[in-house]
Amino acid sequence: MPDLLEFRSVDTYYGDLHVLKSVDYRIAEGEIVCLLGGNASGKSTTMKAIMGVVPPRRGEILFQGQPLAGVSVADRVRRGIAPVLEARRLFPRMTVYENLEMGAYTRQPGPELEKDLERVFTLFPVVKERLKQLAGTLSGGEQQMVAIGRALMTRPKLLCMDEPSMGLAPVLVEQVFDIVKMINRQGTTIFMVEQNANMALSIAHRAYVLQTGQVVLSGAAAELRQNDLIRQAYLGEMVVT
Ligand SMILES: Nc1ncnc2c1ncn2[C@@H]1O[C@H](COP(=O)(O)OP(=O)(O)OP(=O)(O)O)[C@@H](O)[C@H]1O
Ligand SMILES: [Mg+2]
Repeated sequence: MPDLLEFRSVDTYYGDLHVLKSVDYRIAEGEIVCLLGGNASGKSTTMKAIMGVVPPRRGEILFQGQPLAGVSVADRVRRGIAPVLEARRLFPRMTVYENLEMGAYTRQPGPELEKDLERVFTLFPVVKERLKQLAGTLSGGEQQMVAIGRALMTRPKLLCMDEPSMGLAPVLVEQVFDIVKMINRQGTTIFMVEQNANMALSIAHRAYVLQTGQVVLSGAAAELRQNDLIRQAYLGEMVVT
């Protein structure tokens, strides 16, 4: 069986700025894979490449063994890729309910859709309480819940999350990670960018580390947690050598 997502020697540019440099990722169905790296290392660019917003100039990206070149963003969503973007872009002047509906815009209304709404409400009871509220007036944590809920409304095979814990209080960070684990157990593969390396590695199966656009480390999350470079750079630990 092919990997769910594969990057083959992917290079991306913004004009002359070379960001991803011959990057390879392989994500198997059922995994939680996290992407670590310093600021400007190309993490969000990776997510944009998956969605087709920043297409590779060289190399290719495959989803379920099929090259994604030339596939529109909407068709990527239809095939089962759902983004939860950095800074969680909700439609601020639409209600929570309308935002969730927008998440399902690629699908036909019907009982299945109702089932998915119920699933979102079970994961995020607070979302149900605020259905009629304008999304722009929600707290940061609530917006993040709605953003994840909206992505789930597309029934994704692959959920791509760009810093889901950004700006959240520690107790909410833990909640978001618990929910990510639960979503994964329900069958969705997760590719997640995180600054919160310790937490991310505690729920991930595997991880990649980017440094100025190159993968410098990858492996099982449990092993990376023991790695000196990781501990120094991302876990805030002093390593005595
Ligand atoms: N639309 C754009 N046009 C030009 N340069 C861009 C654009 N988006 C990102 N970049 C540049 O590409 C590089 C990688 O950016 P990217 O957003 O992928 O980093 P990141 O790893 O997500 O960083 P952070 O941790 O700060 O979110 C940066 O130097 C950034 O300035
Ligand atoms: Mg980023």
